[in-house]
Amino acid sequence: MKHHDITASNRAAWDEAAPLHRAHNQADLLARFAEPGHSELDEVETAVLTRLGVVGKDVAQLCCNNGRELISVRNLGARRCVGFEGAAGFVEQARELNAAAGLDCAFMLGDVYEIPTAYDEQFDVVTVTIGVLNWMPDVDKFFAVAARLLRPGGALFIYEQHPIMDMVEPGAAGDPVAWNYPYFRQGPRVYTEGLDYFGGTTYEAKPVYEIQHTLSAVIMAGVKAGLGLSDFAEYPHHISNTWYNVERQGPQLPMCYTLVMEKI
Ligand SMILES: C[S@@+](CC[C@H](N)C(=O)[O-])C[C@H]1O[C@@H](n2cnc3c(N)ncnc32)[C@H](O)[C@@H]1O
Repeated sequence: MKHHDITASNRAAWDEAAPLHRAHNQADLLARFAEPGHSELDEVETAVLTRLGVVGKDVAQLCCNNGRELISVRNLGARRCVGFEGAAGFVEQARELNAAAGLDCAFMLGDVYEIPTAYDEQFDVVTVTIGVLNWMPDVDKFFAVAARLLRPGGALFIYEQHPIMDMVEPGAAGDPVAWNYPYFRQGPRVYTEGLDYFGGTTYEAKPVYEIQHTLSAVIMAGVKAGLGLSDFAEYPHHISNTWYNVERQGPQLPMCYTLVMEKI
């Protein structure tokens, strides 16, 4: 299957999911962002970004969904903030949240692989968080996009679920931890249950294609894009909206990681 067809099918699935996520989340988020300085970032994300230093910096977020993290980064003191997102419904939600916060973040609609060159070397920090890399059919090309957006000396910050999680069938807290997939899986995992991981409704959705990238493939994609490793950590806590089965059962797995790579 061509990469373009994978991203097109996934975009259609995200377009379907956007109104469902809105129904579940938007009213609460609008109220929370009306509070000055509100942040939706967790402790780990806040700590790494604070260490990196975002105050007065220009920050881009790739595949930013409803923008809640980028708006939070603006509230941490970042200067220009631009979010890039492929699903129109989420861009609309992000712009509403930004307006509720009285801020000036920009949210651009389009395929992350096709971000215009006008954005090249415009940012000190590029962020990629929680459930993005698994939508990327070409992880090398994705890192190349992130690298070209950075100014020399700028940093790419990734906060992602650990790829070892992709070996286990996702499930609710009591569900068995079923090791159904190899770490070195070839080809995407395809499903049609939809992407309402907030409300939990299932429907006959457009096919979703998730791609597994090993940790070494992720780090080497950064190296190939001209980025140097400056910080890497693995954690035991859960950051996805799935795999609640893994969280409390069996031996402790690494469930997520942070990675910072700097443009040399
Ligand atoms: C699970 S969300 C992660 C974002 C954010 N961290 C969050 O928790 O809301 C993944 C987002 O990536 C976007 N996305 C996936 N593939 C994309 C692409 N090729 N170009 C732009 N956005 C894309 C989807 O539309 C979706 O909003």
